[in-house]
Amino acid sequence: ALGVTASVGIPAATESAVAVEGGESAHWTEEHVEEIELTDDNTAPVIDHEPDQISEDRLVWDTWPLRNRDGSMAQFNGWQIIFSLTADPNRPEVDVPGDRHDWARISYFYSRDGKSWQEGGVVLEEDEFLGDQTWAGSAMYDPDEEQIYHFYTAADSFPDVRQRLAVAVGGSIETGPHGVEITGPQEHHIIGEADGEMYQTFEQGDEQGMAHAFRDPWYFQHPETGEDLLVFEGNTPTGATVPGQDSWNGNIGVMRATSDDLTEWELLPPVLEAVGVNQELERPHYIFQNGNWYLFFITHEHTYAPGLQGPEGLHGFVGDSMYDPDMEPLNESSLVIANPEEEPFQAYSWDAMQHGSNMVAQSFLNFRGDIDSLDTIGDRSPEEQREIFGGTLAPSLKVNLDGDETRIVTEKADGYVPPSGGRGGNGR
Ligand code: FRU
Repeated sequence: ALGVTASVGIPAATESAVAVEGGESAHWTEEHVEEIELTDDNTAPVIDHEPDQISEDRLVWDTWPLRNRDGSMAQFNGWQIIFSLTADPNRPEVDVPGDRHDWARISYFYSRDGKSWQEGGVVLEEDEFLGDQTWAGSAMYDPDEEQIYHFYTAADSFPDVRQRLAVAVGGSIETGPHGVEITGPQEHHIIGEADGEMYQTFEQGDEQGMAHAFRDPWYFQHPETGEDLLVFEGNTPTGATVPGQDSWNGNIGVMRATSDDLTEWELLPPVLEAVGVNQELERPHYIFQNGNWYLFFITHEHTYAPGLQGPEGLHGFVGDSMYDPDMEPLNESSLVIANPEEEPFQAYSWDAMQHGSNMVAQSFLNFRGDIDSLDTIGDRSPEEQREIFGGTLAPSLKVNLDGDETRIVTEKADGYVPPSGGRGGNGR
């Protein structure tokens, strides 16, 4: 067992008496999805301008801010930092934008105002990271240790994209009047793998013709117990043998750190399951507000089970604890942000950040134009695919959060990340 470290306010991560116990999952159901309807409150405005490319030579998509351990935004001498998945379109592997998922690297960007981002470069050294490429994650800065913890997905290459959860620790961060430099070697550790019982393995999915997800670790400190936790995207093993409704089996999983250095973790049961509903509950994350646990995730129009429909969107649930089987979908359907019907693929990968009594959702510019489905984009010429892909940060959206209801209030600057925002803190 770990020793209990005395600290003010938030206790250190320990296996203490107050530790969270794995509980019953909540469910995203067909009934919820049937309530999905695009309204003024949940539909993003059409993006009517050309956002600047924040990277000179890379495609940019999933993005997350550097946060402190308590979830607030990290700042260094006035600089804010974000990390993005990026791909070099000049690599032979990245012929068309859709190929970026097979050559993903994490780059960092920094800003003084949370909206004009300067490119810093790739953050995990090429010959050090685990897996063949790095998919989405989260980043936490510990000021006492002066260290960044990079949580990421160690993903293999297509077609057998096994995914494991990893952490990279180490390196240094230097700031000056003109910018930020993150350099130096890190130590990489695998911290989580699908166990085949709570979380479907690649092999189980492969045998059953089902999608495999074990990715997108998002770090947070439990607002009451102070435990170090991660939520991630997984699948529930349903034992489906023929593609049927049960093959759409997305879930949101949880892990808890069992070592102070955050290199050892244990799997806990999922907090939300969507069996028979949707196979990908991507990039899960929380906002804590007034004792409420708001759980958000993103999903695609093409990952719903047969007979169910929804847009490319951000979804959310609200409950009063981590395992709350009575957790309610926001707005009855769970839909918080949808792309508009005129531009159904204009943005994706919304990351909701607490901002006063509102939240700001940051996202990237995906495909624009007359598109029926993401699945058919590959039928177009490579030139056309490159032309319709944004590959940079989209305008962020300010969304009002009121109990179990949300409302899009206004469009913010491209790539805006609120400097004072965070994940909220249950009134702390
Ligand atoms: C969301 C996503 C993530 C994954 C990444 C891979 O856009 O599918 O779930 O980590 O993209 O590129």
